[in-house]
Amino acid sequence: MPMTMRGRLTYVRRRALARWLYRRPLSQLNPERLYLWAQAIIETAGVPGAVVEIGCASGGTSAHCYRLLQNIGAPKRYVAVDTFSGFVPEQFDHDVQLGTPEAVRYGFSVSSPALVRQILRQLGASGVELVRGDIVAMPADRLPRQISTALVDVDLSHPVHAALTKTWPLVAPGGVVLVDDCDRRTGFRARAGFQRFCAEQGMPERYEYGMGVLHRPPL
Ligand SMILES: C[S@@+](CC[C@H](N)C(=O)[O-])C[C@H]1O[C@@H](n2cnc3c(N)ncnc32)[C@H](O)[C@@H]1O
Repeated sequence: MPMTMRGRLTYVRRRALARWLYRRPLSQLNPERLYLWAQAIIETAGVPGAVVEIGCASGGTSAHCYRLLQNIGAPKRYVAVDTFSGFVPEQFDHDVQLGTPEAVRYGFSVSSPALVRQILRQLGASGVELVRGDIVAMPADRLPRQISTALVDVDLSHPVHAALTKTWPLVAPGGVVLVDDCDRRTGFRARAGFQRFCAEQGMPERYEYGMGVLHRPPL
């Protein structure tokens, strides 16, 4: 989606001040969910495949967890997917009908791969691989061939469902997928996408701290 003049000004300011604004990783996950995601990464360190974050925003969680992998001696690929321009209008319109408030329509729209790369570099996580695209439209072959651990954090029902449909077949035995914003209190409808996927696959819905959780059993 093209940026408005105001968005452009915010972007220019954000890039100029990035060195100070993003001195520490700014994860958008609630603390208990960041803990769950870090725990999943640690517990799947021995499972083959890449770590994938779908919906990475400014890269705060990506930087934190990329460094975690380095620190525990499991230097896996960390692949972060995002539009880098916020929500896709039709996907957002759909969820407005389900109750998502209009007020959050332009969240995350002021970004770019260049800005996120700069942030990752200054946080010591330049090895994070960025993939730009809408997960609904993106061919699955732009994702790693095998995935050990995936975080789906795109807030809206359609992209959550698409992300699960594309990642789950690539998840190795022993792998884990977490879906953010599946609690009932949030205005986002990620839970609807998670529920639809579980129903289609005949899998039970499991939740921890408001995240949807899928485990692929080890062989
Ligand atoms: C809540 S933020 C992600 C926060 C990030 N995981 C973190 O922990 O810091 C949601 C992100 O999903 C992205 N997004 C929304 N719809 C998308 C889609 N269809 N495809 C790819 N990314 C999308 C937005 O651009 C936004 O950056």
